[in-house]
Amino acid sequence: MDLDDTEQDPEIKEYSSVCVGREDDIKKSERMTAVVHDREVVIFYHKGEYHAMDIRCYHSGGPLHLGEIEDFDGRPCIVCPWHKYKITLATGEGLYQSINPKDPSAKPEWCSKGIKQRIHKVTVDNGNIYVTLSKEPFKCDSDFYATGDFKVIKSSS
Ligand code: FES
Repeated sequence: MDLDDTEQDPEIKEYSSVCVGREDDIKKSERMTAVVHDREVVIFYHKGEYHAMDIRCYHSGGPLHLGEIEDFDGRPCIVCPWHKYKITLATGEGLYQSINPKDPSAKPEWCSKGIKQRIHKVTVDNGNIYVTLSKEPFKCDSDFYATGDFKVIKSSS
């Protein structure tokens, strides 16, 4: 596919893969940020796997690229630096702990709020990292900070 083909259908172009950097570099830094078709994303390299997601937290737009990665319930999560929401790297689910208030002896359990942060696809080719934006048709909470009036990166067109 010719990635620079300006004659391309805009809708197809929006979902074409974009080279965001070199594999060697992200393996050292373990994270990088990029703008992919006017959408800000963060790419993590964690325990041998790549994960890309919208950079602004679904809760209130916090900067996920500045968060720490921790395991919760055996699942690697980015912890938002603003209010400590936990988001799974693999699926974009928001995790929380729940407890039965009527049972004081009950142990808190990890639960999922469902997919809250939009996850994008990462591929590696010849030492280059490519990101392809998700075109899953569901409305994801993080879309709010990635599109429209609230997105940080404004379209140049
Ligand atoms: Fe991320 Fe509130 S903005 S937890």
